[in-house]
Amino acid sequence: MPNVVVIGAQWGDEGKGRIVDLISEKVDIIARYQGGNNAGHTIVIGEEKIILHHLPSGILRDDKLSVIGNGVVIDPKVLLQEIKELIAAGYRADETNLKISDRAHVIMPYHRAIDIARESMNGKGKIGTTGRGIGPVYEDKAARRGIKFADLIDPDSLSSRLKEVLEERNLYLTKVLGGEPLNFEEIFEEYSAYGRDLKKFSCDVSTLLNDSISNGQNILFEGAQGALLDIDFGTYPYVTSSSSGSGGASTGTGVSPTIIDTVLGIAKAYTTRVGEGPFPTEMSGDLEEKLRQAGGEFGATTGRSRRCGWFDAFALKYAAQINGISWIALTKLDVLSGFDKIKICVGYKYNGHELTSFPSTSHVLEKVEPIYEEMDGWTEDISNAKEISELPIQAREYLKKLEEVTGVPIYTVSLGPSREKIIFLHELFS
Ligand code: GDP
Ligand code: IMO
Ligand code: MG
Repeated sequence: MPNVVVIGAQWGDEGKGRIVDLISEKVDIIARYQGGNNAGHTIVIGEEKIILHHLPSGILRDDKLSVIGNGVVIDPKVLLQEIKELIAAGYRADETNLKISDRAHVIMPYHRAIDIARESMNGKGKIGTTGRGIGPVYEDKAARRGIKFADLIDPDSLSSRLKEVLEERNLYLTKVLGGEPLNFEEIFEEYSAYGRDLKKFSCDVSTLLNDSISNGQNILFEGAQGALLDIDFGTYPYVTSSSSGSGGASTGTGVSPTIIDTVLGIAKAYTTRVGEGPFPTEMSGDLEEKLRQAGGEFGATTGRSRRCGWFDAFALKYAAQINGISWIALTKLDVLSGFDKIKICVGYKYNGHELTSFPSTSHVLEKVEPIYEEMDGWTEDISNAKEISELPIQAREYLKKLEEVTGVPIYTVSLGPSREKIIFLHELFS
């Protein structure tokens, strides 16, 4: 059985939760490896809709082990609430099916305060973050002033780490950002209580995963965000602050890259993006609104309207190259029903010349002109199709074209948010 990394192949919200929920049936362990509660992963089961921010999307499968790796950043209050809601909805999230790395970093109140204060003062330079403190917590990790999950669950350690870092963070908050200072006692009291409640989940995740692999179990590494939001390879500075690509699976769990067999990239049949930053195939006006309404393109975390555009095969080829994407799970093909013509971006022009590689700066990406191929659309509702042969010829041609221009084969096509609305074209887990 293969060990698979599942990543977003665009700018996030591709339907990762929906696909991970489905294929987690075929694996033993599901491990989230980066990001925090900036993620919003929607899973629809029958009439029920569940949005996960922190928990791996395999958690809804009672018999699987879900793991939060060291590369994830945790907001303990949000995580406890999510666990509570899940249990209230009839699912299981206890110390036997959920483990949290003691090396994961903790999102503290000053991280959120800094994120929000910066965004509100940034005007034109703002990133459009989710305001969850993600940038500041990863900054503190790199600056060696972070607080780990192991500190959170040990009051002595929490107290001394918090004392060490809070004074300096308060200076930054007040003198640079003009905010209010935060109180040590209040934070310590609140966060040591979270630590008490979460302690039972604490685990040496790297050892757990490596032992499980030795025992013949297989792992699905679940990425959040998307390839184009990756801190190194995304559309910097309009990115998140972690390694959302496949490389993050190794550094974010403590498992060697040599055990990864395959990388599955999730891509929508079109493109969306939330927040600021360049988006070459972005639509405008009525066309964009039609797609946004048809796809329900409103954020699962912040409720913001998602920006919508055509499928960008040039960007997807880049995502495939840097992440070794060997298969695509294509979601939301059903949303494209009713569009007369459908465009695919197959390249970019910059200063009149066709680019041979994806630009490394947003400054250039903002100015590129997409080169499109146009295809005929279809009008039929395709959401109930069970076989590829049941799709209209135009939809089949569209899939064929996507494989051709991206160079990546399609593993599965999703035609609706619920578990049964999917067609598998290949077998990955035999
Ligand atoms: P994620 O962050 O990648 O997990 O994606 P989100 O949950 O933020 O956004 C994807 C949205 O599309 C969710 O509302 C899903 O329920 C929905 N969705 C996923 N796949 C499909 C599909 O094939 N068709 C339709 N119509 N909706 C889908
Ligand atoms: P999932 O896992 C889409 C975007 C934000 C912003 C930028 C930086 O649901 O696909 P951050 O709060 O991370 O510092 O914001 O990244 N962003 C996402 N966009 N889906 C996500 O997660 C995202 N997580 C962050 O909108 O542009
Ligand atoms: Mg999302």
